[in-house]
Amino acid sequence: MKLSQLPCAGKTVLVRVDYNVPLELKRNQWCVRDARRLRASFRTIEHLLKLNCKVVLLSHLGRPTEKGEEKFSLRSVYRYLQKNTDWSIQFIDDYVQNTAEAKKMIAASAPGSVFLLENLRFNAGEKKNDPAFVKTLASLGEVFVNDAFSSCHRAHASVVGLAKKMPAAMGLSLETEVHAFGNLLQNPVHPFVVVVGGAKISDKIDPIVNLSRIADAVLIGGGVANNFLKAVGIAVQKSYLQDTPADLKKEGLDYVELANQIISANQGERMLKDGYIPLPKIIYPVDVVAAISPQARATTKIELTSSNVNDKNGKLMYLDIGPKTARLYRELILQAETVFWNGPMGMFEQAPFASGTREVARAVAKTGAVTVVGGGDTLAALDKFGFASQVDYATMAGSAALEFLAGKKLPGLVALEK
Ligand code: 3PG
Repeated sequence: MKLSQLPCAGKTVLVRVDYNVPLELKRNQWCVRDARRLRASFRTIEHLLKLNCKVVLLSHLGRPTEKGEEKFSLRSVYRYLQKNTDWSIQFIDDYVQNTAEAKKMIAASAPGSVFLLENLRFNAGEKKNDPAFVKTLASLGEVFVNDAFSSCHRAHASVVGLAKKMPAAMGLSLETEVHAFGNLLQNPVHPFVVVVGGAKISDKIDPIVNLSRIADAVLIGGGVANNFLKAVGIAVQKSYLQDTPADLKKEGLDYVELANQIISANQGERMLKDGYIPLPKIIYPVDVVAAISPQARATTKIELTSSNVNDKNGKLMYLDIGPKTARLYRELILQAETVFWNGPMGMFEQAPFASGTREVARAVAKTGAVTVVGGGDTLAALDKFGFASQVDYATMAGSAALEFLAGKKLPGLVALEK
């Protein structure tokens, strides 16, 4: 259900947000280092405040134990919200042992008040979707709104339990994200170009398989590309390759073999647009920027079509896509009508290895295509290079967005379909 269909004016609304934000220690106090997830929640909260609702914010932060380690307390977020919004906001530390007190506090407040509950994961019931914990949370409000796309892959109490127990709807950000990501799978305007990077391939394999059925070209970069290069017989020297997990090993598989299967399943060349050079669907780097380590200043450009690519004893790491690859990726992104990008092309945090990611970010900002960008690192790269405001849809959701694009049903979304 959409928020516009949920009768909620004047009610107490439980809003699941994702305030799982990076922190930093300043003068012995944990502080919010990156507030983008907080800002992303403001649209829904302010909409509800205009409707004279009382808003009770629910979130996790990190992966604490039930001991409730101080670092994972949402008090850091509370301080940020107190300082950076004009809301009348209060923090509720203990809503499980002292549910009656918490209810009194909310009941006594004026319409337009905001409450932030302490980290949900300080309670074992959250991850277990324990009915008793769901009941406690539900007793603090009248209706439920989920605005945390990035947590929708978790079948937890505050994601699934509440959605099933109470009148429930998607928040405004969640609605926008589901619409943008749904369009990628259901009716993208072609040519549709997918760009996948980042260090680890584990959570990218399934989305690459699913998207390669839909997209016209899948451009691979970052550490993920090393698996594809190795799959086609190019030595990657000391470049990062993610270890194979036990379940894959049992089946006699590894990520390089899976990359090989993706390439085989997408044989043949096609034109992205009439009159352009035909290319394979799965495209990996033709050159790279390499160095002895990510900290090294001295770099080497390696053409992966030249004879040195089979230097199996080489000591270099491939740390960015090279200039030829960046030009090719840029050209394809500019020709597209729809672009999805997740994962940097190299170690963009270090200046010698930033160019590939910067060029992709620039092309994503400049293309006339509808652009959808996901994942914390990718958004950080867009921010760093000054293009963040030039994409159509940006989501902080990493794993949840990738699972959605892999074609999996997210429990948090299924629960809202009731
Ligand atoms: C995220 O940062 O991806 C979400 O907050 C989910 O966090 P989790 O992986 O700890 O459930």
